[in-house]
Amino acid sequence: MFERFEKTLEELKDKGLFRSIRYCEPVSPVRFRVEGRVFLNFGSNNYLGLTHHPEVIKASVEAVKKFGTGGGASRLITGSHALYERLEKELAEFKGFPSCLVFSSGYTANIGIISALCSRKSAIFCDKLAHASIIDGALLSRAKFFRFFHNDTNHLEELLKKHKDYEFKLIITEGVFSMDGDIPPLPEILKLAEEYDALVLLDDAHATGVIGDSGRGTLEFFKLRSPRIICMGTLSKALASLGGFVCAEKVIIDYLVNKGRSLIFSTALPPSAVAVGIKALEVIKKEPEYVKRLQKNIKYLRRRLSDKGIKTHEFPTAIFPIIIGDTRKTLEVSEYLAKKGIFAPAIRPPTVPEGTARLRISLSAMHSEEDLDLLADTLEEALSKIS
Ligand SMILES: Cc1ncc(COP(=O)(O)O)c(C=O)c1O
Repeated sequence: MFERFEKTLEELKDKGLFRSIRYCEPVSPVRFRVEGRVFLNFGSNNYLGLTHHPEVIKASVEAVKKFGTGGGASRLITGSHALYERLEKELAEFKGFPSCLVFSSGYTANIGIISALCSRKSAIFCDKLAHASIIDGALLSRAKFFRFFHNDTNHLEELLKKHKDYEFKLIITEGVFSMDGDIPPLPEILKLAEEYDALVLLDDAHATGVIGDSGRGTLEFFKLRSPRIICMGTLSKALASLGGFVCAEKVIIDYLVNKGRSLIFSTALPPSAVAVGIKALEVIKKEPEYVKRLQKNIKYLRRRLSDKGIKTHEFPTAIFPIIIGDTRKTLEVSEYLAKKGIFAPAIRPPTVPEGTARLRISLSAMHSEEDLDLLADTLEEALSKIS
């Protein structure tokens, strides 16, 4: 009865691609314990470490005490408790947009936004390295789906020119690519959107709280604003909670309230998750040292890796891919680090393209310089063992 599933799992094991769940107990924003051993964590998107900020914890506990534990109903029924209104107002202001809508996760935000905005008569132009939630949203929409080479505006323009007659066109890119840590040429992408009358969906999941002088993300980084841009993000990374959001012109938000199936047919977030989002934004604004400290760590690690001749990219983001290529060698490096108490996940196909297996190191404002030194030194040792 289960042969086909067993066969697939065996094939994955043979290729070194089998995945299993690791149960971890967080002991700080940058350390966790597994089976009694503590690991230094370079695999979390808790970029500012706000999961353990005393005010954020207090906001979460107070929300539970005041409003209970669960959302109770869809946002369109009775799930939109008052905290949502405040969070949406704060997020719109933080990201520099007229309006905002919060979903239950970044994943459901992407599938809801894309499948609502696009139809069979639409064309989606999507960066080749876009996140799985974007791909899934595009498939669900039944729009024509064209993928342009990563960050290649010439290829994007070629596709836009060829398919300019679609009734609605949506260009999709990420502010900081989740597996590569690079930043797209957004000003050029926006120019193309204007020229070919398209809208741009920008996924700022890994940019919010990280890039831009005050951590407001990609639009602050490029000092850009446009009603053509729809900016989504998540509360689950720098904002230390759970939930996705989209910021845009009010007409788009009203449209998504009416057409976004993943919003309409799913229960609202627990009040504590919403309260954490509000407090995390407040902390980012009132205590700019969190974003500054993360940005300092990014520069520091880049310098340490470059001194050792370890290649990565030049972007000011918290994601450092160390591309090894071969899946097994990548696992060996990750395992070597784990033996020394450092967790840096091996990312393998199909999450990344074949032949580009890598370590994905993500930094937090809460890592100390000693943590980063230990990582750089141990990584150098690990890489020398496989070459
Ligand atoms: C680029 C990108 N978009 C969307 C998501 C989905 O966000 P969430 O984890 O909040 O569902 C993620 C994270 O997993 C991501 O990396």
